[in-house]
Formats: sequence, C-alpha cells, structure tokens
Amino acid sequence: MTAPLLKVDGLNAFYGRAQILFDVSLEVGRGEVVALMGRNGAGKSTTMKSIMGMMARREGTLHFNGADISALPPHRIARLGLGYVPEDRRVFTGLSVLENLDTGRQPARDGAPVWTPERLFRLFPNLGEMPRRLGGQMSGGEQQMLTVSRTLMGNPYLV
Ligand SMILES: Nc1ncnc2c1ncn2[C@@H]1O[C@H](COP(=O)(O)OP(=O)(O)O)[C@@H](O)[C@H]1O
Ligand SMILES: [Mg+2]
Repeated sequence: MTAPLLKVDGLNAFYGRAQILFDVSLEVGRGEVVALMGRNGAGKSTTMKSIMGMMARREGTLHFNGADISALPPHRIARLGLGYVPEDRRVFTGLSVLENLDTGRQPARDGAPVWTPERLFRLFPNLGEMPRRLGGQMSGGEQQMLTVSRTLMGNPYLV
C-alpha cells in the first residue's frame, strides 16, 4: 500500500458567510482517475478551487504527494506538481499559443510525464497549426485545449 497522491480530509469552504462544502473527504491514488459528479451548483468547482488554495476561506486538511498543502497559496501548490485547469480558461489574450504555453513551464519531475510544446501539438493538432496565434483570436474550444496544455507544461503529477 502506498500513500494516496492527494488526500482531502474534512474540507469546509465558504463564499462570504455562505458555507458551500461540508466535511468533504476524498483520495486520489497515483495513476488513478477520479470523477466528481453532482448537479449544477453542488460544489464541484468549489472543491477543485479549495484543493488548489483558491478560496478565501476554507478549513480542513489537505495533503499532496506527502506535503501538507492546507495553508499554501496556489502558486506554491502548483510548484509541488499539482496541476489545475480553470474552467474559465484564463488564456492570456495578448500572448501567442507558444507564449501561453511558456507561462506554465516548470522543470521535469521524477515520476511524472515530461511535456513539451511539440508533444502537446501531437496531442492537440489544432494547436500545432497555430503556434503564433494570439490567445484572444482563438475559439473557445481551441482556448480550452491551450488551457489544458498550459497546465501540462508544468509536468504535474496530478491534474
Ligand atoms: N464566487 C462565488 N460567490 C458566491 N457563491 C458562489 C460563487 N461561486 C459559486 N458559488 C455558489 O457555490 C455553490 C457551488 O458552486 P460550484 O462549486 O461552482 O458548483 P458546481 O461546480 O458543482 O456546479 C453554488 O450554490 C454557487 O451558486
Ligand atoms: Mg462547476
């Protein structure tokens, strides 16, 4: 038995005074795919934001790859190799596809796949056809591919 890659215990999250998450616990093992399902507004996105340190107020214990990330800001969590793909894409509209990819670049990690623009362009051929296109001049679907690719450029252990 190896320890889970991600372990969430007793997670509560709030928007202002409104509590959204109540005692959420979950685990993700190395190489495991976990889907979180629920009706609109159930708190799926809030769970992801909470794990990534993006909620102004949250409680609970979160461990990633052996590190306690409960009190870390998003950029510190990202540097530990936890990738996050924002549903609102957050593409830099004034930067090209290649420049957007560069913003996500992190060093290779032992035990995680190593991503390059060339490898991502094989996964997403549409992006490979527009490496110099500005982010603001791409369709929503193309931007979504770019957002996923930018996250993978961080060579994460888990997305
Ligand atoms: N920025 C916000 N401020 C206040 N309430 C929010 C905000 N974002 C989401 N909510 C509320 O939090 C609840 C959970 O939302 P969310 O996590 O986005 O749901 P899901 O992703 O499962 O559809 C909903 O009731 C939603 O209205
Ligand atoms: Mg959502």
